Amino acid sequence: MIRVLITGANGQLGTSIHHQATAFPDLQITYTDKTELNITNRESLSDYFSKQEFDYCINCAAYTRVEDAERNPDIAFAVNAEGVKYLAQNCKTNGIVLFHISTDYVFDGKKKEGYLPSDLPNPLNIYGESKLKGEQYIQEILKEYLIIRTSWLYSEYGDNFYNTILRKAREGKNLRVTDAQIGCPTNANNLAMHILQLINNSAWKPGIIHFTDKIPMSWFDFAVSITKSHKLDKDIKVVRDRNYRSFAQRPEYSILLEEKSGNE
Ligand SMILES: NC(=O)c1ccc[n+]([C@@H]2O[C@H](COP(=O)([O-])OP(=O)(O)OC[C@H]3O[C@@H](n4cnc5c(N)ncnc54)[C@H](OP(=O)(O)O)[C@@H]3O)[C@@H](O)[C@H]2O)c1
Repeated sequence: MIRVLITGANGQLGTSIHHQATAFPDLQITYTDKTELNITNRESLSDYFSKQEFDYCINCAAYTRVEDAERNPDIAFAVNAEGVKYLAQNCKTNGIVLFHISTDYVFDGKKKEGYLPSDLPNPLNIYGESKLKGEQYIQEILKEYLIIRTSWLYSEYGDNFYNTILRKAREGKNLRVTDAQIGCPTNANNLAMHILQLINNSAWKPGIIHFTDKIPMSWFDFAVSITKSHKLDKDIKVVRDRNYRSFAQRPEYSILLEEKSGNE
């Protein structure tokens, strides 16, 4: 049996892992969220790890509200940087491999060829900065880790772009969606399956990898494809929103390319 701890298990990726895990009988998985295991609480973290034994920790815990992070940088850094540092320290003390999820938002989106894991990050917003800091702590503290950067996660679980578009389309509302950014939407179930396979098959090496569904598109294109795939495109119109402004600055072209880097 491979013993795996999930943090932030009630979020979108954690829930997707829960659903995909039935295909992996050799993984014994413990699911925790903020109430059982708050990664910003140093004392309760070390207490928890002193009482349980794990081979892997998959950190799905994060502060993912990109807009709110601009107004609450302290919370974003507490979860995405300091909490990740505490987790890495506990993994080191207890000989646990840390799999950590990071984001395309560590990049500035100016490189039109797309980003390799070895490319220099340059985040444009607080969320991206806090996630980058978390990556850096892991690299400083641990040898046995995998940082998996992904982009535009969506699934049937929770509050995300996919579900919002579907809900509004089903309500018969026409949609205005920006085409100002290009990225690769990634089904959280595909990412969950990939992570579980890497662990189950010991098919990973320490470092940073990128994982996406590999089809670049704008939010507008994504909204059109969601309505088409649910045959809602005859009932509603999706139009390009040229006036879209967000509080947080976002990378214009954040394509993650999947070549490995790190100390392989
Ligand atoms: N969503 C995306 O588009 C996207 C894109 C690229 C990368 N990522 C990365 O992928 C990972 C998974 O994202 P996701 O979409 O699954 O995010 P999510 O749905 O927001 O899930 C994050 C989970 O972490 C929990 N959490 C927050 N603070 C915590 C704490 N201090 N201790 C323990 N748990 C805590 C949240 O609980 P509450 O909700 O109660 O706060 C939530 O259950 C994250 O690392 C994220 O940065 C996401």
